Parts: sequence; structure tokens; C-alpha cells
Amino acid sequence: MSKKQAAKIVMVSNRGSYNLQATPEGIKPVPAISGLVSAVEPFLREKGGVWVAWGGREAPQENSQGLRLAVPIDNAAYTFHEVPLTAGEINLYYHGFTNSALWPLCHYFLERCHYDAREWSTYARVNAKFAGAVLEEAAVGDIIWVNDYHLALVPAHLRHCQPQLKQFFFWHIPFPHHDLLATLPWAPHILRGLLGTDVLGFHLQAYVDNFLQAAARLLGARVDFEENIVYWEQRRIHVGAWPMGIDYRAFQRQAVEPSTRARAQELREQIGVERLALSVERLDYTKGILERLLAWERLLEEAPEWRGRVALVQIAVPSRTAVPAYRRLKEEVEAAVGRINGRFSDGSYRPVHYFWLGLPRQELVAYYLAADVMMVTPLRDGLNLVAKEYVASRCDNTGVLVLSRFAGASQELKGAVLVNPYDIDGMAMIFNTALGMGRAEQEKRLRLLQERVRRHDVHWWMNCFHQTMAAKKGEADDVSGSAGS
Ligand code: G6P
Repeated sequence: MSKKQAAKIVMVSNRGSYNLQATPEGIKPVPAISGLVSAVEPFLREKGGVWVAWGGREAPQENSQGLRLAVPIDNAAYTFHEVPLTAGEINLYYHGFTNSALWPLCHYFLERCHYDAREWSTYARVNAKFAGAVLEEAAVGDIIWVNDYHLALVPAHLRHCQPQLKQFFFWHIPFPHHDLLATLPWAPHILRGLLGTDVLGFHLQAYVDNFLQAAARLLGARVDFEENIVYWEQRRIHVGAWPMGIDYRAFQRQAVEPSTRARAQELREQIGVERLALSVERLDYTKGILERLLAWERLLEEAPEWRGRVALVQIAVPSRTAVPAYRRLKEEVEAAVGRINGRFSDGSYRPVHYFWLGLPRQELVAYYLAADVMMVTPLRDGLNLVAKEYVASRCDNTGVLVLSRFAGASQELKGAVLVNPYDIDGMAMIFNTALGMGRAEQEKRLRLLQERVRRHDVHWWMNCFHQTMAAKKGEADDVSGSAGS
């Protein structure tokens, strides 16, 4: 692509809008599903640009050339630029440092953190690789949008090689308290890497505060806590909270489709209970699946009147299966499901319907429509878009959202019934209340929830990004007299 073209967006994320799959006819790009893809892809389709990402496959060698494809294949609109990773890199960078050090650390699971110097150095090398791919695509005037904890060192690389590039970074998971972050031997490197950006976004002000404190205490940076600004290397880095939204109207449209409604009806008939509860998430220890199952079991023990009348559909989406902690969790979850069903099944009645799979959008919305109660009870979660999707799909204004107070979305979603997922008895009592909630109360709560999710949808979120970057572009670049070093 010529570097003389008009300004464009270069998206950068570990997982991109496509997964590259080998087929007998050659490599095929298969569209990926994620909150980020639904938010940003329509924009790239309309305006063009580039998405730089690992395509999800193994490269034969470290210096293998990544594919560069015009996508979508049948109606090319933007470029997908693959960053090829070898099996060793995938292991040390992705399964290793990102998902066995940063992920548990940011979700406050210190005892699960595994800090390893080889994993760290591979993480640093892979981040340099991503930055190299961006530099092949970017021209001055473009906006580089880097995402998530996999790529914390990319901004500083880009700043070093091409100081004029305008950069935005969004961190999609919680940002931990500085005391916790300080346990990571390379915490200052992570902070310095991030401070290469111009604007740094988080879902919540609490994460912004944690980041600002970490920059001040672990790096000695000068920080304006009122204005959310870090002064660093003669630059002013703006930090802000912009909780991500969903495509509210798309979920509503899907929910009113007669075929979706028919499928929801069919699911209810198949399961055949009075009240149906649902949970959907990646099979991850942060999501609190085991704790929720324990609370469900407690409910059936303590409130026997529900036996035979309620069921929980647990959809666990396969995730990071090469990481031992995830494999162990799968065994534990399945053992718990087996135990509960063994204890409380009766004839054709089963209290837990467990599925280990991912669902396409229409099927997912059919489950949202079928569920009287949605249980989103993570032990910690950066935000949680599933909670918002449930709200958007409930076009008849009924349904109860049970939400963990440790999900970022609980800060926004007034109207949800909040739970502490560490308190099994308390959670069982709240399940009891939610299952028995009357229609008027459900409607009152859901109206509040829908108002919020509709107003702060994905278009609002993208707009926050545009406005912030436009303001930044108009600003003088250098900050004289600042104390950053
Ligand atoms: C979280 C992260 C994303 C990540 C997703 C799925 O939501 O914030 O960056 O893509 O989990 O995890 P995976 O390891 O499959 O990419």
C-alpha cells in the first residue's frame, strides 16, 4: 500500500478480525468473533485501513513472511497484515507471559502468576515484531490503535522508531493496583512501553487511577491526577475511561427475528422447566464458573421447592486449552456438573445443561431470549460484554441480570442484581430472589439497564475514540519543562 494515501487507521491486536486456516485450496481467512471486531471492523470496512494481528496459526520459522491480504475476500475493503509466530513464540509469548503472568496478575490471581525470564524476553521480541509490522504499514498522519496486554511494549517501540505517529492504546482487562503490579519483575518495562502512546484508554476510572498511581510510584513519573495526565519524556499522555459498548441495535434486530424467537421457544421446550438460568463465557478461572456451580448446588440443597422446576444452562467456550490451568479448570467444572446432576436429576429433569462450545450470534441470542435469569458472576472481569448483550436482546422487557460486583460492567449497569461471587451462600440466596422476581420489578430494572446499554453503545465508544484523537491531533506535541524521564 502506498504511504502517500490519506490518513488511515492501523489496528493492532494479538487476535485480529480473521483467523488464517490452512485448507486444501490454500490459506483461508475465517472471520473472528469478538467485541473488538464488532466495534472496529465496520469502520475499517467503510474507511479502509489495516489490521495487524497474529492470524492464529504456527509459522514454520522465526523470520517467516506474514500474509498480507485484502479482506473481506469477496469485497475487499481493508488489509489484514499477519504477524507470523512460531510454535515456540506462541508457547512463550502467548501461553506463557501474556496468559500465565499478565492475565492472572491483572485479574488479582497472584498465586497463579508464573514469572519466567525466557517468557518475558520472548514477549519483548514478539512485541518488537508487531511494531515492525506496524511500521511497514504506517505513514505519518495515520492513527495507530494498539490493543491489550499482549502488546504493552509496542507503543514505546513505535515512539522510538517513528516519533511522529499518533498512537492510541486500549487496555481491555483490569489494570491492577500498583502493589500487585510491583510483584512483576518487569513492571517498569510494561509501564514505559505503554507510555509510548499518546492516549491510553481503560474501561473504568478505577483502572485509570491504578495506572496513574503505578506510573507515579513505580516509574517516578509526574502525574496530574485531576486531569488524568502523565508527563513522560517531554510528552503528555492522556489517560481516560471509556467503557466499551455493544451494537445494541444489531442484538435487538436479531432478537425480534421470528426464526430466533422460534429457536428460543424450542430451547425452552427441550429443557422443559419453569425458570431457566443461563451463563455464557470462555472457560476461564476468572469467570467464577466453579463458584457459581457451587451456589447453584447450594440453592437446590437449601430451597428444595426449586428442584425439578429450574435449570442452569452453562455454556463454556473453549479457551487457551494449551495452558495447564485451563485444562485443570475444565476437569473441575465437569466434575462439579456431574456431581450436581448426579444428586438432583430426576427422570428427564437435569438441573445443569453444560456445553463446551462457542455459539454463532443467532443461537446465542436465542439462548438470551430463552433465559429468565442471566448469571454473569466473574471473580474479576475488565468489563463484560455478555451482560450487555443479554440486556440488548430482551426485547419483551423481562429477564433478570445477576452481575458480579467484580465485573467492570457493574459500575455502569444499574438495575442488575449484584452478587459477591466469593460468597457461595449469599450467591445462592440471590439466585433464589432472581428466579422468583415478579414481572413488574423485572421490567423496572430492565428499562434502566436498556437505557444505559442503548446510549453507551459501540457507536458511542468509537465516537469517544475519534473525539479524543482529534483533540490530541490539535494539541502541541512537546511539553517543555516537564519532569518525565
Ligand atoms: C480477553 C482479552 C482479549 C482476548 C480475549 C480472548 O477478552 O481482553 O484480548 O482476545 O480475552 O482470549 P484469547 O486468548 O482467546 O485471545
